[in-house]
Amino acid sequence: MDRADIGIVGLGVMGQMLALNMARNGYRVAGYDVNADKVAQFNQNYGERNVIGCANQDAFIEVLQIPRRIMMMVPAGQAVDAVIASLKDVLEKGDLLIDGGNSHFSDTERRAQMLADIGLHFIGTGVSGGEYGALWGPSIMPGGPQEAWHLVKPIFEAVAAKVNDEPCVTYIGPGGAGHYVKMVHNGIEYAVMQLIAEAYDVLSRGLGLSPAQLHEVFDTWNESAAEDEGSLASYLVEITADIFAKVDDETGKPLVAVILDEAKQKGTGKWTSQDALDLGGATPTINAAVEARIISAYKEERVKASEVLAGPTPAYDGDRPLFIEAMRDALFMANLCAYAQGFALLRLASAEYGYDLDYSEIAKIWRGGCIIRAAILEDIHAAFAADPDLTNLLLDETFSAMVMARQGALRRVVGYATANGIPVPALSSALAYFDGYRSARLPANLTQAQRDYFGAHTYRRIDREGSFHTGWQELEA
Ligand code: 6PG
Repeated sequence: MDRADIGIVGLGVMGQMLALNMARNGYRVAGYDVNADKVAQFNQNYGERNVIGCANQDAFIEVLQIPRRIMMMVPAGQAVDAVIASLKDVLEKGDLLIDGGNSHFSDTERRAQMLADIGLHFIGTGVSGGEYGALWGPSIMPGGPQEAWHLVKPIFEAVAAKVNDEPCVTYIGPGGAGHYVKMVHNGIEYAVMQLIAEAYDVLSRGLGLSPAQLHEVFDTWNESAAEDEGSLASYLVEITADIFAKVDDETGKPLVAVILDEAKQKGTGKWTSQDALDLGGATPTINAAVEARIISAYKEERVKASEVLAGPTPAYDGDRPLFIEAMRDALFMANLCAYAQGFALLRLASAEYGYDLDYSEIAKIWRGGCIIRAAILEDIHAAFAADPDLTNLLLDETFSAMVMARQGALRRVVGYATANGIPVPALSSALAYFDGYRSARLPANLTQAQRDYFGAHTYRRIDREGSFHTGWQELEA
């Protein structure tokens, strides 16, 4: 019997699609799942495609080439620990375990350490692109020891998405680096999705555009050539255009109009915000996106509040095509601010956790396969290639010119939405990030004075070195 080149544990949709992708690229793949029905179905549906579903863990271990390469495609959290616990005693020194789920990077660090102690290689990798990506080419973000990476490099390069014939996978860094970068990818994903949702809200509630008109607008934005300055061509804009065109079979209404407005979340966006706060990173647009999902979940409360708390009724009487143009530029600029926040967080994490990240390479592998793939990533890749130490994307020459040319549009959109009672937390956070970052002097001098006033926390002065305290009030002890 031919031994398998790689094994996949977890035959959910992602695991199955990845297995088929590997098989299509010439690798023999063994699959295993604790759910026997999934294994049987896998064999029945794809048995003739160089894949073999194994009925039990022993058979799975037996069929793998040595050193064994096993990729776990199970939900993040306890399931990963359970699979590791069940495999670690039957694997041999030199075998490789890969976690391809959205694990928290600190779990990956812990597991890597535990497995290294017993001589097993471990890779924690981000895999982005959903089911379609898993089957036809995801973006892959592997982290762990270099030695372990080399054991799986050819397979990952074969299955990854390709842009200009280059695979969308690169070694990210040690320990939890791969999962960290995937987490920030998802933080940016949350931000861009929320920015698009706000553009939809302003254009529909604010300007009265129908789903059919929105389809046209988003389709035009996505169709702009990737090389055009300020192009919004991207996967998320493309699927948004598709969504607006979809009609509900049951009601004949646009499907988007009958979908409940409560956004779910599995946690990666929140983790990005949490770690940014821990590291002292400003990611306001990602945070706004996380909070927007939270407030969306208060559906019942919002419905009640809408009957009590009246606000303005949106009415637009200006030039519509001009406003739609402004929205395009505003969305581009706000997207760029979200990417800038994500990459600035990666810089902090790289220093804090010793990841030694290569931002240009990260932008490069995000150009294809992943959910945030977008024309703008080509320019981000170029910006970091030209200056690997760039502190913030907004300071790159090309990007600074772009945001300066578009800030008027973002101000106009945020101004209109605010005046008309349409919430735009992500768009306005991006503008505030831009304005805060470009302010040589912020009102934090007053904050310091207040801290010193009530808590004797001291302050520094602009005209001399040292730490100062002022007796702001008479104390009568
Ligand atoms: C990807 C996606 C993927 C998943 C998100 C959804 O890169 O392919 O990010 O990982 O769809 O985790 O996250 P939420 O459920 O939190 O929206």
